[in-house]
Amino acid sequence: MKDRVVFITGAKGGLGSFITRRFLETGATVVGASRSISQQDFPGPNFAALAVDFTQAASVSDAVQSVITRFGRLDVLVHLLGGFAGGQTVAETDDATWERMRDLNLTSSFYVLRAAVPHLRKSGKGRVVAIGSLTAVEPHPALGAYVTFKVALAMLVRTVALENKDAGLTAHVVPSRKNLKGWFLGLVVGTIGKGVLEKAFKNSVRAIEARNSAVTTASN
Ligand SMILES: NC(=O)c1ccc[n+]([C@@H]2O[C@H](COP(=O)([O-])OP(=O)(O)OC[C@H]3O[C@@H](n4cnc5c(N)ncnc54)[C@H](OP(=O)(O)O)[C@@H]3O)[C@@H](O)[C@H]2O)c1
Repeated sequence: MKDRVVFITGAKGGLGSFITRRFLETGATVVGASRSISQQDFPGPNFAALAVDFTQAASVSDAVQSVITRFGRLDVLVHLLGGFAGGQTVAETDDATWERMRDLNLTSSFYVLRAAVPHLRKSGKGRVVAIGSLTAVEPHPALGAYVTFKVALAMLVRTVALENKDAGLTAHVVPSRKNLKGWFLGLVVGTIGKGVLEKAFKNSVRAIEARNSAVTTASN
């Protein structure tokens, strides 16, 4: 990974810190972004901090451009930024919660993909890895806003994958937190293929279906 430039959104969060450290260990040049991130968060020669609000289109586009200006290339986008809200049924969901879930989980993703994809295409081995959620495999009461935008995120990333196959770019959504370090790195370096990811999704859907069917059978 030494010759690759990796851009990580939400790099300072719980999951972000964990993933950022793992990429730094590989020797890759890592640009970590969030609103309040600073160089002191990940001291080391191959880390660069970039303070960005991903809900602002112009800031996101400037941030990606600054990575290109400074490092000359972009090979990997690890998109971890997201937000969670729960506890309200659809009928109870207020505008602010809906808009926050939309902005953090979907619109920010659109902004960063739109800005990064042209540069990732030039890499010849561009990689996009985004964090989804296993809860977004089926509907859940009182999680409507969260799961709706996580499902939309998965569709957006899968669309990017289809649109950029010709440039050797791959784009995946990692479904859960289980073994995340390995998943992210494996997808980036190519040791985890699309088939494995699809199998993981199918298994998680099957597990949910089996559970639902067991519950239905038991309650009949
Ligand atoms: N936690 C879970 O159990 C779980 C389960 C499944 C999926 N996920 C997903 O995993 C991802 C990370 O979750 P997490 O629990 O690690 O989140 P977290 O700890 O809340 O971290 C969120 C990160 O995003 C940054 N951020 C928030 N708003 C921002 C904005 N407008 N612009 C730029 N950066 C912003 C925060 O830093 P600043 O405050 O410095 O901006 C922070 O680095 C999310 O997409 C989440 O949906 C989490």
